[in-house]
Amino acid sequence: MLKDTNDSSSSYNRMISYSNIFHVWKCLWIPLIIFFFSKAFCNSNAQSILLPHQDRSFLRSAGVSSCPMPDPSLYFRPVVGILTHPGDGASGRLNNATNASYIAASYVKFVESAGARVIPLIYNEPKEILAEKLNLVNGVLFTGGWAKTGLYYETVQELFKRALEKNDAGYHFPVLAICLGFELLNMIVSKDKNILETFNALDQASTLQFMGSTNIEGTVFQRFSPDLLKKLTTECLVMQNHHYGISPKRFLETPALSSFFKILTTSKDENDKVYVSTVQAQNYPITGFQWHPEKNAFEWGLSMIPHSEDAVQVTQHVANYFISEARKSMNRPSARKVLDNLIYNYSPTYCGKAGKGYDEVYIFA
Ligand SMILES: *[C@@H]1O[C@H](CO)[C@@H](O)[C@H](O)[C@H]1NC(C)=O
Ligand SMILES: *[C@@H]1O[C@H](CO)[C@@H](O)[C@H](O)[C@H]1NC(C)=O
Repeated sequence: MLKDTNDSSSSYNRMISYSNIFHVWKCLWIPLIIFFFSKAFCNSNAQSILLPHQDRSFLRSAGVSSCPMPDPSLYFRPVVGILTHPGDGASGRLNNATNASYIAASYVKFVESAGARVIPLIYNEPKEILAEKLNLVNGVLFTGGWAKTGLYYETVQELFKRALEKNDAGYHFPVLAICLGFELLNMIVSKDKNILETFNALDQASTLQFMGSTNIEGTVFQRFSPDLLKKLTTECLVMQNHHYGISPKRFLETPALSSFFKILTTSKDENDKVYVSTVQAQNYPITGFQWHPEKNAFEWGLSMIPHSEDAVQVTQHVANYFISEARKSMNRPSARKVLDNLIYNYSPTYCGKAGKGYDEVYIFA
């Protein structure tokens, strides 16, 4: 009996406790389910859209120590010297001073777009100042224009000579010569001021035809995709604006030129006359363009400048090529001296409203 009673009371007790648990569960299951669901929701949410500052594993992996060191053989603060050209770049609309010179802002933007800064090399400055500025830069750009005589010619000749000397001494020092700059290098290298021929290629977009034997490895064209290279040969993606040039025939018959440069491309003028349009020095980081890589992205005053996405990519590839060469320069100038001479000490002037010529120019007078 006692046992029964005990049994029955214990089973009664168990019934009470079961019913209690059941009761408790009845009251708890909803909040519990909400709790687990919200927990699960938060977690899946967290995994899919955790912000970098909330994700601790990201924080650990992004620690400074795990960022690979940049290549110590390259210089990531390159500065390019751009030589000014006589005049105001706007046919006297902006400045008539006889000692005025200018840089079209498109050349500056071109250099800046690839991760470098610019120091203007003012062509009529005292020679000692120009020489000092040359020691602040990691490469030089010779622009388009018309001046082929006098002090301007002599300054290009002097800067080119010094660029060769730097390279000969083992200091990588690239030169990019565009349009007039390219024409002047032909005159200087051939030591013949009458080497140029006349062509009819003012305000003309053209194709580039690669020389059959040309290996583009190590040249400006290496970074172009096969697709874009093909388009260069069939679509008019480069801008010509010149009255002078040199035919492949005369170029190849002039040993001084053909031993110094190799022809990468040729193009045709309005009369189908063929001229040399891109060259690369055989033994120097020097590239010459009869065409204007900087215009596609940054000039609007000539009607034929191509502005398609492909054309703008051409500008970007050439700029990236030039500055990748400038990063190989070992020159590490004083930061203070660089800041004092940067083109940021000057302001460009808008002159594109005339509907012709350059859009913006920096004037030095
Ligand atoms: C420069 O000279 C030309 C011709 O005399 C004149 O039309 C022009 O206004 C001058 N430019 C400036 C900025 O004074
Ligand atoms: C140009 O000449 C003016 C006045 O003669 C002078 O003040 C200025 O420094 C010169 N500019 C350059 C770049 O030579």
